[in-house]
Amino acid sequence: MCGIVAYLGDKEAQPLLLEGLRRLEYRGYDSSGIAILNGKGLETVKKVGRIQNLENALALHPLHGSLGISHTRWATHGKATDVNAHPHIDASGKLALVHNGVIENYSLLKRKLEEKGLKFRTETDTEVLAFLIGFHFDSLDAAMDNRLEVAVMEALREVTGTYGLVAVHEDQPDIMVGARRGSPLVLGIGPHEHFLASDVSAIAAHTQTVAHLRDFDVVTIDRQGYRLKSLSQNQAGLEISQIDYQAAEATLGDFPHYMLKEIFEQTMSVQNAVRGRLNLEESTAQLGGLNLTPQDLREIDRILITGCGTAMHAGMVGEYIIESLAHVPVEIDYASEFRLRNSPLDRRTLVLAVSQSGETEDTLGALREARRKGHRVLGICNNVASTLARETDGGVYMYAGPEISVAATKSFTSQVVIFVLLGMLLGRMRFLSASQGREMIEAIEALPDQITTVLRQSDHIRQVAEKYRHSKSMLFFGRQMQYGIALEGALKMKEITYIHAEGHPTAELKHGVIALIDENTPSVFLCPRDGAYDKNINNLQQVRARKGPVIAVATEGDTEIQNHADDIFFIPDAPEYTAPILSVITLQLFAYHMAVILGRDVDKPRNLAKSVTVP
Ligand code: F6R
Repeated sequence: MCGIVAYLGDKEAQPLLLEGLRRLEYRGYDSSGIAILNGKGLETVKKVGRIQNLENALALHPLHGSLGISHTRWATHGKATDVNAHPHIDASGKLALVHNGVIENYSLLKRKLEEKGLKFRTETDTEVLAFLIGFHFDSLDAAMDNRLEVAVMEALREVTGTYGLVAVHEDQPDIMVGARRGSPLVLGIGPHEHFLASDVSAIAAHTQTVAHLRDFDVVTIDRQGYRLKSLSQNQAGLEISQIDYQAAEATLGDFPHYMLKEIFEQTMSVQNAVRGRLNLEESTAQLGGLNLTPQDLREIDRILITGCGTAMHAGMVGEYIIESLAHVPVEIDYASEFRLRNSPLDRRTLVLAVSQSGETEDTLGALREARRKGHRVLGICNNVASTLARETDGGVYMYAGPEISVAATKSFTSQVVIFVLLGMLLGRMRFLSASQGREMIEAIEALPDQITTVLRQSDHIRQVAEKYRHSKSMLFFGRQMQYGIALEGALKMKEITYIHAEGHPTAELKHGVIALIDENTPSVFLCPRDGAYDKNINNLQQVRARKGPVIAVATEGDTEIQNHADDIFFIPDAPEYTAPILSVITLQLFAYHMAVILGRDVDKPRNLAKSVTVP
């Protein structure tokens, strides 16, 4: 949520910063801005709206200089306006600051600074922090070499809240200072140049050598190199690593939108999640990253899955998968709820935190709460360099590659297939026979071809979307392993088309939802050939009896369904634990095509950001 890119080196900063911002635009896109030190002073340009607006402004008046900071914003405090955009400038006009996170005590700090006669220009918490750092800077001896570093550290000691930030000052024109607490910041190290960024994707095209700052780290970069300090008692020390990240993976190729590209990548991403994890000899799964012995795994008697949004929906499918394959009781809770709840877990409960980005504030809050109480927490995560990856006791990486579209697609199917692997692993230690394990492996191995079959229906799904383009509201129904898919289908539809959409367990229809049915409200029924098929058809008929249009997601070869549905998306025949991976793809395509037909900004829907790093 919000993106930072900063550069100090021997090249022109502006083009590097703009390119980095473009790669980060998925994190937030209400406004953006840039500040450059050009040897004579500080120059800043900020624009509300997309980064294109900033580029247009800079095309008319380019900024020159080899030290600069930049930011793309997702508004938390203060509306999205030019003036509220980052960088924020201090009272002297000489210090510029970009900041991700939330300064919780900003009103108090603001009042204190106002009492000293300082006048603020915006309603943002970041401006308060810029003023505070500037205030400390001005009170320090002008001859100090480390004046900006000390000013940043003194200011941060007064702050409660979260930050990933970079500050520069006109009076120390060859220095930038970065700091992190709760909001990621990565140092990129190149020959004669350094970067600071909130996400490696912003800098991966220029350097593969990076170090992730830890909470309370403060890094000062000058023309000679960098040095690290810490605001905590911990010894400062950076772990430098080489990133395995292909910048090319984050480009569109021939696709009109990242979302469509990522939907089509699922043939590969599901394979990547499974590669090396099937043990054919033992007919089970092998997940080395769990860091648990077979005995540990056998002793688990309860699992709690937590996450937000799409990751939460994957967890809901996971709940059914693990319970049915491994007979281990599973509970699922929104991370935002779990972190505040006093959940009675015991030592044999395993907590699974699911997150594509590994940076979602509520998910991190939940995992920290669980760890505080001494529970083992594992992660299911895509971003190997994330806070979640570092703070969990082990876990399973998705290896789905960068997911750029704000609407999550491929990360969802990777998460579900990982739950299948986990269910198989735990199940084979308990009740599942070798032949059941073999059947499961066959079902997993069939997925890539089955996904390709689903993707071939893209044009058909577009035609169906065209038919329902005037809908103001849509309902999605599924039960058991398809219930999470109903929720996910509704989420995809509302977040990128802005059509009101709700997901429900199918049988709940008659307990209230049925009042919404009329001839203008389509219902999507997830009804593959499984144990709930007949019950699903009963419910579907109740909708048809009230003239509600019905779109069914059904199994290929189901001839009966033609009599019940107005439109059908078919999925290949699959066991109930892999069928959700196939059915969700039809709904991802449905939402995608609807959004394109309605002229929506598919990859960057309004009000959203890719990773939500505020509570
Ligand atoms: C929806 C979507 C969000 C995320 C949620 C959690 O398409 O992308 O609902 O799933 O914000 O994000 P992660 O998985 O990064 O923790």
